[in-house]
Amino acid sequence: MAGGEKVVRMGVIGVGGMGQGHCKTMQKVEEMKLCAVCDFSAATAEKVGKEHNVPYFSDPKELIKAKLCDAVLIATPHPVRPPIAIEVLKAGLHLLSEKPLSENVATADKMIAMAKKKGVAFGIMFQRRTEPPVIKALELIRGGELGKLYRRTLISPEYRSQAYYDSGGWRATWKGEGGGVMMNQAPHVIDLFLLLGGMPNRVIGNCETRLHRIEVEDHGEAMLFYPDGGTGYMYTSTCEAGPGQMIELFGDKGKLCWRNGQLSFWKFNQPIAEFTVSNKEMWAAVKAEEVKLELTTGDVGHVNIHRNFARHILNGEPLVAPGEEGIRSLELANAVWLSSFKKKPIDLPISRSAYNAFLNKVRTESTFVKEAPTAVKAETDPQHAKA
Ligand SMILES: NC(=O)c1ccc[n+]([C@@H]2O[C@H](COP(=O)([O-])OP(=O)(O)OC[C@H]3O[C@@H](n4cnc5c(N)ncnc54)[C@H](O)[C@@H]3O)[C@@H](O)[C@H]2O)c1
Repeated sequence: MAGGEKVVRMGVIGVGGMGQGHCKTMQKVEEMKLCAVCDFSAATAEKVGKEHNVPYFSDPKELIKAKLCDAVLIATPHPVRPPIAIEVLKAGLHLLSEKPLSENVATADKMIAMAKKKGVAFGIMFQRRTEPPVIKALELIRGGELGKLYRRTLISPEYRSQAYYDSGGWRATWKGEGGGVMMNQAPHVIDLFLLLGGMPNRVIGNCETRLHRIEVEDHGEAMLFYPDGGTGYMYTSTCEAGPGQMIELFGDKGKLCWRNGQLSFWKFNQPIAEFTVSNKEMWAAVKAEEVKLELTTGDVGHVNIHRNFARHILNGEPLVAPGEEGIRSLELANAVWLSSFKKKPIDLPISRSAYNAFLNKVRTESTFVKEAPTAVKAETDPQHAKA
């Protein structure tokens, strides 16, 4: 945007595994140009800066002060994201946040409020929203094809090895990560689940650490209750390997299943509430007919969010993943933990002070020491390195 160019000058703060992936992905977007990088580790900043031939910094404030960027992507570990985000936003720069916004709804609230106050663009890296089956599922739901929803189910096997958890000192600790599978590995599918099925207003949660030597949950599940009277269940785990990632929604007029990235939709020949009381045959049931779906085609992955973010800034294209919507998956993850900890149902939106008290308690009382010597590795997930 400098000198009237139709290009957004980007800075990336946090150029570890994911941040380095973003620096590469940005090259595919013609409306975007990488102009500076920053990492707490001066050696990492220098390596990535030299690789891309851009200025590099080890302090986010220095990157901001240099005025080389119109927008910043923050790919640090999430608990350090909010204070950096606030500085970025205060400087009037647009913000693209990695997921999750933060580890704690209260600090995410502050990011959302600051972005609003400064009137800048604010997006979140929920790239799975751009997958064609998800776009189609949203179209069906918004078009009323399912009718009133009675059941929502999320199954999210997100397997990770112990070596993955040992690859960074911050990973899977209360202080460094502020949560486990619901905080880092499952937010994408939790976001899709909430995008398609809406927000519950009450949860009964259960969090456990089952297979890994970690401090936070590698298993998080909950019974969900919705304002429309429907119920649901969510299950997330880094103990279970795929396949089987699934969102299923059962409504009055049909049933939708997104499984392993494939979408199926069945339409009932009569709304089920009406059929149940009007049909007089003892063994009758509604007939479900599978509907053939036409899907869009195109790029998948992070590149879609980068491009959309740039086009939003340059031309006002609506954001696919507005930053303020990042609060939903975080709110649910925090609520499930609070419920598991208090051993009682928790209403949403959750009490910010109750969650702060819980987080402070687990952090101050933590005695966890990583058993394996930490071999710090900043490798981009090969799945994302392609995107
Ligand atoms: N959207 C996706 O598909 C996706 C995929 C993987 C990770 N992520 C998210 O990206 C974030 C980073 O994950 P990762 O796997 O790249 O971690 P990583 O440990 O590989 O990289 C984090 C980097 O941030 C740097 N850093 C830490 N504190 C900093 C600070 N205060 N200022 C500047 N730099 C700082 C570290 O030195 C490190 O280089 C996480 O929040 C994670 O949830 C998103």
